[in-house]
Amino acid sequence: MSSGDHRFVQLMASLDSPMAIVTTASDGQQAGCLIGFHSQCSIDPVRYAVWLSKANRTCRLAVNAAYLGVHFLEPTAGHRQLAELFGTVSGDDIDKFERCAHQQGPEGLPLLTECANRFVGRRVAMSDDGSDHVCFVVEPITITSQSPMIPLRFHTVEDLSAGHDADEAPT
Ligand SMILES: Cc1cc2nc3c(=O)[nH]c(=O)nc-3n(C[C@H](O)[C@H](O)[C@H](O)COP(=O)(O)O)c2cc1C
Repeated sequence: MSSGDHRFVQLMASLDSPMAIVTTASDGQQAGCLIGFHSQCSIDPVRYAVWLSKANRTCRLAVNAAYLGVHFLEPTAGHRQLAELFGTVSGDDIDKFERCAHQQGPEGLPLLTECANRFVGRRVAMSDDGSDHVCFVVEPITITSQSPMIPLRFHTVEDLSAGHDADEAPT
């Protein structure tokens, strides 16, 4: 099936995924990007999967990182700005963390203080099936939550253009 099959594109868009920001740190550097590809993937033990584009700086750092921060976005003006910052520009070009409030998690992991619903995940597996995204599976170890939480969904950010298109991935 081609990536441009409009029935598949429409089907996925109609799921209207909740949006999140993944952060990571390795080799003394920090990175983070907006994601729509993420889900709980095991109940016992609890596991969560995120898929990062090989074109993204965040993926390049995550490959060597022990922890990922997963931040769930809500439909507020502040979170819309975070979605734009982390989704439309690359850490290859600017320092995103100079432009948003954050605190340090384990091993220098940046945690976005404006996101009240987030967790720190310890990486337990990584899989590359040769597609343009890499799957990282994490065990949630520190959870911060504030309920009720209403997710910011894909349809409210579908106007954004990704900082790196997936087809920029190195072969
Ligand atoms: C609506 C939307 C959804 C996105 N979903 C993902 C995703 O699931 N995984 C991913 O790796 N990148 C995703 N991106 C792309 C990255 O957020 C974007 O390319 C970012 O600028 C990469 O930053 P980096 O190079 O600093 O990692 C998405 C972007 C947008 C606008």
